[in-house]
Amino acid sequence: MTLYAATSNPGKLAEFAGAAQTCAITVLALPGLDAIPAPVEDATTFQGNADIKAAAYSLAAPGLLVFADDSGLEVPALDNQPGVHSARYADRPVLEGSSPPASLSGSLDQRNNALLLQRMESLPPSASRAARFVCHLALARDGEILLRSQGSVEGEILHAPRGAAGFGYDPLFLFPGLNRTFAEVPREEKWRISHRGIAFRNLLQQCRLL
Ligand code: IMP
Repeated sequence: MTLYAATSNPGKLAEFAGAAQTCAITVLALPGLDAIPAPVEDATTFQGNADIKAAAYSLAAPGLLVFADDSGLEVPALDNQPGVHSARYADRPVLEGSSPPASLSGSLDQRNNALLLQRMESLPPSASRAARFVCHLALARDGEILLRSQGSVEGEILHAPRGAAGFGYDPLFLFPGLNRTFAEVPREEKWRISHRGIAFRNLLQQCRLL
């Protein structure tokens, strides 16, 4: 069986393909992905956005099994922000009635992390710093969703970034079981414990039912 990943992120693709090797499923990048108009991800949930992507990209690739993921960070003390806005958190013009501070600079990941820290610092010192990464996956063929899966991993938001690996909020996300951030663990180790790894292994198991 071959699954086609609707992602242009080479890191994610390598992780998906590596995990699938253990169960004789081949994962390939969806051919011509860049030429397919990206659907508007306007759902209010991760699963809704994963469904939108899987349905749209599978319609553009008739007959192929296409999967898409949507993921992000939820901080309960911030009403589960950044949530579905994780990717462009710092670029949203108005967040819950307040504008992102002008002092944010650097790459989008750096600005997202800086804004998250600022929002955390505005909470009372006793506020919980608990956080979770969440990943939802959808597998579709010809626009029809066939399978869904999800994974999450619990952690804590540090007061300052640590580590140079990974991407996104990894440097701020402490995984208590290892006492390291996701930016301090090798990719294979992160994949073993991460929201995306959990969700994808679950999807692969379900593929046996197809
Ligand atoms: P995507 O929709 O899966 O590409 O991810 C949305 C955003 O959530 C990313 O741009 C990151 O900011 C954040 N995110 C999702 N997964 C991770 C992760 O494993 N580490 C760090 N940040 C993540």
